Amino acid sequence: MSHDLTLTINGTRQQIALDDPRVTLLDLLRERLHLTGTKKGCDRGQCGACTVLIDGRRQNACLALALSHDGAEITTIEGLAEGDTLHPVQAAFVAEDGMQCGYCTPGQVMSAVGLIAEGRAGTDPERIREGMSGNLCRCAAYSGITRAVLAAAEEMTTTKGERKTA
Ligand code: FES
Ligand code: FES
Repeated sequence: MSHDLTLTINGTRQQIALDDPRVTLLDLLRERLHLTGTKKGCDRGQCGACTVLIDGRRQNACLALALSHDGAEITTIEGLAEGDTLHPVQAAFVAEDGMQCGYCTPGQVMSAVGLIAEGRAGTDPERIREGMSGNLCRCAAYSGITRAVLAAAEEMTTTKGERKTA
């Protein structure tokens, strides 16, 4: 039996037929839609490597059943850059050395995008660490990650402010 759902993934609406209602969003993205930027670490909600935005809110894709998000807007790491121009969070991770092996990085970046959008990033490194605590990094690149989120939050707030006054 086929289970149909519609998802808008990185701005493109897609009709998807699932043969198994138990498919997670993570497996759908990686194995069926070949969006392999979203990583599988623990597959049980403990590492944050699979973080994506679902209707603008960050969630672990390994814990989300694809079918239960019928109609949702999904943003993955592949949907952040505009052509060759990196999203400010991606650019900040590069500039601030927010990665080592890079395996956790897509999840870290997506989580940071969500944190900033929630208006909870602030300017206090401790607050950033708390807000990013669901994303583990086995390389322990935490100081660079924190610097990157701080820099991106500042940049995005300033840019927003400039747009407002323009
Ligand atoms: S793979 Fe989803 S939280 Fe670890
Ligand atoms: S950079 Fe290697 S796990 Fe985070």
